Amino acid sequence: MHNDEIPYEVVAQYRTRFGAEPEYLVRTPGRVNLIGEHTDYNGGWVLPFAIDRSITMAAGEGRGSSAIVALDRDETVEFDSRYLPAPRPGHWSNYPIGVMSEFAAAGSAVPQIRAAFAGSIPQGGGLSSSAALENCMALLLDRIIGTGLPRETLALYSQAAEHHYAGVRCGIMDQFATLLCRRGHGLLLDCRTRAYRQVPLGLRDYRFVLCNSMVKHDLATSGYNDRRRECESALATLRERHPRMVDLRDCTPEYLESSRGRLSDVEYRRVLHQVGENRRVLDAEQALHAGDIPWLGRLMAESHDSLARNFEVSSPEQDFLVSEAMERGGSPGARMTGGGFGGNVICLVSAKRVGDFAISLRESYRRRFGLEAEILECEPSDGAGIEDLAIMEGSGSPSP
Ligand code: GLA
Repeated sequence: MHNDEIPYEVVAQYRTRFGAEPEYLVRTPGRVNLIGEHTDYNGGWVLPFAIDRSITMAAGEGRGSSAIVALDRDETVEFDSRYLPAPRPGHWSNYPIGVMSEFAAAGSAVPQIRAAFAGSIPQGGGLSSSAALENCMALLLDRIIGTGLPRETLALYSQAAEHHYAGVRCGIMDQFATLLCRRGHGLLLDCRTRAYRQVPLGLRDYRFVLCNSMVKHDLATSGYNDRRRECESALATLRERHPRMVDLRDCTPEYLESSRGRLSDVEYRRVLHQVGENRRVLDAEQALHAGDIPWLGRLMAESHDSLARNFEVSSPEQDFLVSEAMERGGSPGARMTGGGFGGNVICLVSAKRVGDFAISLRESYRRRFGLEAEILECEPSDGAGIEDLAIMEGSGSPSP
C-alpha cells in the first residue's frame, strides 16, 4: 500500500471491523538515528530524525471490552482493559498493552479501546516501529483519558512499556524522537537531562538514503540487554575511583586510558565507543551548522567502525553495505542505524547519484548475500500527531 493511502485504508478497515466510525486518527513516524548509537542508556547524546514512514492507528472507545487489530498481520487481540493481559514474548501486542499498563500504574482508569493500525515502517529494521506503536497508544490514551501530559512524559511511559512488557531495557531515544522531531530537523537530545534542540538538517546537494539489509533484528533476544549490562559493570568499576561519575558519558579519554588495567578488554572497548561516539554527536552538530557534509560523512563512517569493532553490534551484512556504499557508491559516509544486529544502514548520497547508487548497491548486495536490499530515499519529517475525527469537517474521514 502507498504511504498516503494508509490512513484511508485504516479508517475503512476500522469501520468494517467495528461497524462504527473511529473517533481518532493517530500517526507516529519511525526514526533514523543519524549518529549517537547506544549512548542513550549511558546518559549521552543522540541525533535522530523522524522519517516519512509511519504507523497509522484509527481508534475509539470500546463498548464493554477492548480490541486492537494489527491490519498488516490480520490479527486481533481482545481483552478487558480493567484486567490487562500479561506480556506475550515477542508479540506486537506488548507495545500498545504495555502503554495501557503504564497509564494504569500511574493511577489512570484505563478505558476500553478499539483500535486498528497499519504501517509502512519495516519491522525489525532498526527504525523504531515498536516505539511508533507505543506512542500511538500513548497519544490516544492521553487524549481519551484527558491527562494532557507533556510529550516528554508520554515518551517515558512508552519507554517503560518497552522495559516491562517487551523485555528490552531500551534508552529514551526512539520514544523521544518519534514524538518530538520536526520536519527538516534532527533532534539533538541530551539523554541525561532530556534537554533537546532542533538541528536543521541542511544537506545541500546530498540526500539521506536508507538501505535495509533485510536481516531482521530482535532486540529482546539479541545482545542489546547484554550491552547494557556490560556498560553498567564498566561504570561500576570506573566509579570506584571517581564516585561522582554518574554515567559513562562522564568518562574522559584520559580517565579511560588510566583505568584500562582495571577493566576487562570487552568493557574497555564498550567505554571507548561511548567516549568517541558522544564526541562525534557534538561534532556532527557542528558539521551540520557549517554545512560541511563530507565532515558529517566521516563522522558517520567512524561511528560505524566503532560500533562494529568496539561495541560489536553490527552484522556482516551491514558492514558490507557500509563499505560498498562508501567505496563504490560514492557515499561520503554511511553507518548502521538503531540497535544493530541487522536492520538498516543510513547513507549520505549525492542528489545526482541516488538512482545509480541504489542500482549498484542492490546488485552488489545480491551478488554477495543473495538478498534483495530495500533502498529508500528518506526525508526528515514531523513527529507524531493525533486528529480528533469527531470534530473535523466531514467527520470520519482523515484529512487529505
Ligand atoms: C534501540 C533502542 C534505543 C537505543 C538504540 C541504540 O533503538 O530502543 O533506546 O539504545 O537501540 O542507539
